[in-house]
Parts: sequence; C-alpha cells; structure tokens
Amino acid sequence: MVTGAARGIGETVARFLGRQGATVVLTDLNPQVEETARGLAADGIAAEAKILDVTDNAAVMRAAQEIGNKHGHVDALVANAGISLELTAIEHDVESWRRVMALNLDAVFFTAQAFARPMLARGSGSIVMISSISGVGISRPERHVSYDVSKAGVAHMARSLGVEWAKQGVRVNAVGPGYTDTQMLAEVGRAKPEVLQAWLSDIPTGRLLRREEIASAVAFLLSDAASGMTGHLMMVDHGYSVGKGV
Ligand SMILES: NC(=O)c1ccc[n+]([C@@H]2O[C@H](COP(=O)([O-])OP(=O)(O)OC[C@H]3O[C@@H](n4cnc5c(N)ncnc54)[C@H](O)[C@@H]3O)[C@@H](O)[C@H]2O)c1
Repeated sequence: MVTGAARGIGETVARFLGRQGATVVLTDLNPQVEETARGLAADGIAAEAKILDVTDNAAVMRAAQEIGNKHGHVDALVANAGISLELTAIEHDVESWRRVMALNLDAVFFTAQAFARPMLARGSGSIVMISSISGVGISRPERHVSYDVSKAGVAHMARSLGVEWAKQGVRVNAVGPGYTDTQMLAEVGRAKPEVLQAWLSDIPTGRLLRREEIASAVAFLLSDAASGMTGHLMMVDHGYSVGKGV
C-alpha cells in the first residue's frame, strides 16, 4: 500500500514493487491515481487504486480494514504523500504550518498506526516513511521551515516506532531522498532555472536522482533482505547530505 501514488516518487515506488511481484494498492487524494493504477496494470502489474486523503483519519482506518479484508493482509506500507510550501519563517501563518504538519507528520503517524495494528497482531510487517535531505539539514536557497521540521519528525518517528514495534515483528524505516527528478522539480526548473542550477552544483554527482533510485531503496528496506534494519534513516541523495549541500 503506497500513499500519494498518483504521480512522482509514489507512482514509481508502486511500479517498482509491482515489478518485484507485489500486489500494489495505489492511494492518493487525486483521482488521477485510478489512471496511474490502470497504467501499471497495463504493464502486467497487479495494481489497484483507492482514492484516499490521508489527512482524514477515519478514511485511513476504513481503508486499512477494507484493503486488509480484500487481500487477506497488508505486508508493507509506504507513507509517501507529502507537500512542501515555500514560505519564509515570517511568512508562515497557523494555517500554512498546520497544512504541512497535517499531511507530512500527523497523517504519516496515523496511517502507520492504522496499517500497523493488524501487522502487530500478525507479528509481521514492514513500513517505510519518506523523509528528505531536509530532515537532516537545511537545503538552500529555498525556505520551508515547516517542511524541514516535518521531515526531521518523520525520521525520528521511524526510529521511535521501529524500537517500539521491534519485538512484534514490524520494522519501520525511513528513506531520505535528495533532489529527485519529479514533476514538482521540473516545475521549479522551468520557473526558476537559477534555483535548479544551485541545487545541481551542490549535488556531488551533479545530477538529480532518478525516481527508480529512491524506489529500489524503499523496496530493499521493505524486503526481508533488510531484516536486520529498523528505526533507520537511509539517505538516498547522491552524497548531498554528507557533502556541502546541507
Ligand atoms: N521530489 C523530490 O525531490 C523529493 C525530495 C525529498 C523528499 N521528497 C518527498 O517524497 C514524497 C513524494 O514527493 P514527490 O516529489 O513525488 O511529490 P508529488 O507532489 O509529485 O506527489 C505527491 C503526491 O501526494 C498526493 N497527496 C497530496 N496530498 C495528499 C493527501 N492529503 N492524501 C493523499 N495523497 C496526497 C498528491 O496528490 C501527489 O500525487 C514527499 O513526501 C516528498 O516530501 C521528494
């Protein structure tokens, strides 16, 4: 089950997991997720879509039950949906701050809670949350304190839940992507080419990450190949966070 899977990293994660043989449920607030799932199915992937606003906790709890009933159980959850509002600290108001936290932090926690409940009862499951380079440092030149705080919170949430659920067979890890080749970044590149250039010059490889490079890390952490790992934040950023980028 992947949240925010209509496009971007979520879509690619779902496709990657599907190619490994998983049955994938793509969820998103945007009804476009249905077309995305049809695209995966056309490529031979066992994919289905569910329209789901992850900030609506009652809907998330219903979805966990419905998906579990339909498929027997859910092996893995990828809490991917997230937003970033480019605002300076002074420009933030309560509404913009709450909007970012409601999706990037609260919804990640309550989605993990809803899907972990049956995993804990069964004694098996794996969860990956999507953090960011902004969760370990402050990237430039953009300004988004709410995003930075929320993504640091996601990394620490994975640590806390990873430890809390370790004896019950549920692993929780986070992936911290660097700047990734997505629609969101393409829009920035078109609107502000100088910002894209600044990012590229700070990335040790000099190029954006491919979405598949994030997806393969997520797949690894979800899989039994990572059975020794829980509570871990895996940076997938071409060395950005250990270079001068953050
Ligand atoms: N693109 C990057 O360079 C980058 C870098 C680091 C981290 N990330 C993180 O990766 C994740 C995916 O990023 P992306 O670039 O693919 O973003 P994106 O904007 O392309 O996709 C996000 C998806 O989440 C969906 N969504 C938004 N609000 C939702 C809600 N309330 N309920 C359900 N779905 C909702 C959107 O409809 C969209 O399909 C985010 O958490 C983001 O912070 C992205």
